[in-house]
Amino acid sequence: MDKSLRKPVIAGNWKMNNTPEQTKALIEQMKPLVADADCDVVLCVPYIDLYAAMEAAAGSNIKIGAENCHWAEKGAFTGEVSAQMLKAAGVPYVIIGHSERRQYFGETDVTVRNRVRAALDAGLKVILCVGEVLSERKLGITSQIVSAQTEIALAGVSEEELANVIIAYEPVWAIGTGETATPEQANEVCAIIRALIARLYGKDAADRFVIQYGGSMNDGNAAELLAQYDVDGGLIGGASLVAEKFAKIVEAASK
Ligand code: PGA
Repeated sequence: MDKSLRKPVIAGNWKMNNTPEQTKALIEQMKPLVADADCDVVLCVPYIDLYAAMEAAAGSNIKIGAENCHWAEKGAFTGEVSAQMLKAAGVPYVIIGHSERRQYFGETDVTVRNRVRAALDAGLKVILCVGEVLSERKLGITSQIVSAQTEIALAGVSEEELANVIIAYEPVWAIGTGETATPEQANEVCAIIRALIARLYGKDAADRFVIQYGGSMNDGNAAELLAQYDVDGGLIGGASLVAEKFAKIVEAASK
């Protein structure tokens, strides 16, 4: 197998940070720093910042994404935004199933699956997040949890559609905590996900499939994590809010 079949993807997840004005300033700062990237660079930003982000990133190698989308095309869902709306606004990427959505906003494996379906139907590229909480890791059921989350989210997704899906393996205990999975731990679970993709879609699809690690990835630990065979990029929270830090991670992925 050849890791070079896969182009790494470094994606920032800004979460609930930055006003439109701050968005413009941060992307202007980032653009020259990531211009030579030999990986895909994505910034997922709050809905209110999408236009400012796309305007600032226009003509650069930075692609913009949203942090969620609803499963219905339109209707009485106060506060939600549909995948169709994102597509119409020119947004290419969307994060779905982030653990903060699952933890704080009642997302289930089935609602995640429905959002993935809607995003793919709308023609968006999906960054699907999966990952175990600490108690699950301690129980030794990480593999079962991550496999179930993955298999449910992909229910009904065809091999052709899979080309528009990336999975971000994000151990919940490592998100925003400063505690990172070891490179071995990250690789082990990414390999489990790849084996599942091979079982569901065949070996060729699995060899081409991009699997990111996320959870306190930063400019200091990125190189080691990204060097792992099954880790093809990163979903970056905190460090994506600082241009120099994010650019160093992009640089590490470009080697
Ligand atoms: P973190 O967040 O890098 O701040 O740990 C990662 C994420 O939630 O995607």
